[in-house]
Amino acid sequence: MGTKRAAITGIHAWVPDYVLTNDELATLVDTSDEWITTRTGIKERRILKGRDQGTSVIGIAAVKGLLEKTDTDPGDIDLLICATTTPDMLFPATGNIISKAVGAVNAFSYDLQAGCSGFLFALTTAAQYIGSGYCRKVIVVGADKMSAIVDYQDRATCIIFGDGGGAVLLEPSADGLGLCDALLRSDGAGEPHLHMKAGGSRRPPSIATLEAREHFVYQEGSTVFKFAVKNMAQVAYEIMNRNGLVAEDVAFLVPHQANKRIIDATAEKMGIGPEKVMLNIEKYGNTTSGTIPLCLHDYEAQLHRGDHLVLAAFGAGFTWGAVYLRWAYDPG
Ligand code: UT7
Repeated sequence: MGTKRAAITGIHAWVPDYVLTNDELATLVDTSDEWITTRTGIKERRILKGRDQGTSVIGIAAVKGLLEKTDTDPGDIDLLICATTTPDMLFPATGNIISKAVGAVNAFSYDLQAGCSGFLFALTTAAQYIGSGYCRKVIVVGADKMSAIVDYQDRATCIIFGDGGGAVLLEPSADGLGLCDALLRSDGAGEPHLHMKAGGSRRPPSIATLEAREHFVYQEGSTVFKFAVKNMAQVAYEIMNRNGLVAEDVAFLVPHQANKRIIDATAEKMGIGPEKVMLNIEKYGNTTSGTIPLCLHDYEAQLHRGDHLVLAAFGAGFTWGAVYLRWAYDPG
């Protein structure tokens, strides 16, 4: 992970106010609260409403809160990486928009797209800049406005996604705590099973792509589910093993929140009980790059210096991975 270890020294998250419940979804598509709850664990999700509101709205709120909470001067930020699959525009990068809005005038910034594994890929990338000594203060944002690309006529996908995200501050570790290991993987063979057909350079927007509803998430749910269960559980288990961790050592599993059944399978493979699994899928659904920072934020008060955490994700690409880190600060 580089010569200097990078530690998370602060976290903040933000979700929009509007709550889209399972009951409201049942007025849009043929579904029910009972089906969604038992098949996914989701009860509600947040939606960013309003004209011209992009993912940067989420990122800006998260980063502003983070800077305030950690008493950090935005001018001291060297780099901001925004993990997102729903950038405000194809270009410029949403990271640039966030940096400008928060006054991070000395930072270079860019976006990183790795589907639902985006936050872990960005966190690991950021740690390399700190490890090499090139940067001292890096912000990693994980944020998505999934409602912008979800088809609210497709009951198999619209029920799982929501909007939201968070941001962490990374700094060189003073005491050896921080990111210890990462195990990241991708396989382009996942493309047919989870993608958005149009809007990129292969199929630019046209009347035909609009009429064919090609600007929405296309997901073969049960195929993605099988790959997710197998691969997310495997990397989480592997990263524990290769770092000599047993279940008792792990304070929390911090899993990507796509489906509670995928999370349960990962915890089971690791041999850890539900009390050690961060879970907020019932409130926010799958916010893609946002789920892991949203979890860390919700559980921040329960984390202590030195805690061993395993973060794990699976997403479009396919991409998947696990990060092992030691939490660097106490609550408050
Ligand atoms: O985040 C990154 C990657 N994404 C994921 O990890 C998502 C992984 N996949 C999943 O979480 C699940 O596959 C879903 C929640 C998306 C779907 O659940 P499933 O249990 O895999 O359902 P399915 O797609 O296999 O469909 C089973 C049945 C079908 O009916 P028939 O053909 O058996 O009559 C579907 O039409 O359930 C039906 N169905 C629904 N019924 C009521 C699918 N969606 C719904 C729905 N309400 N919302």
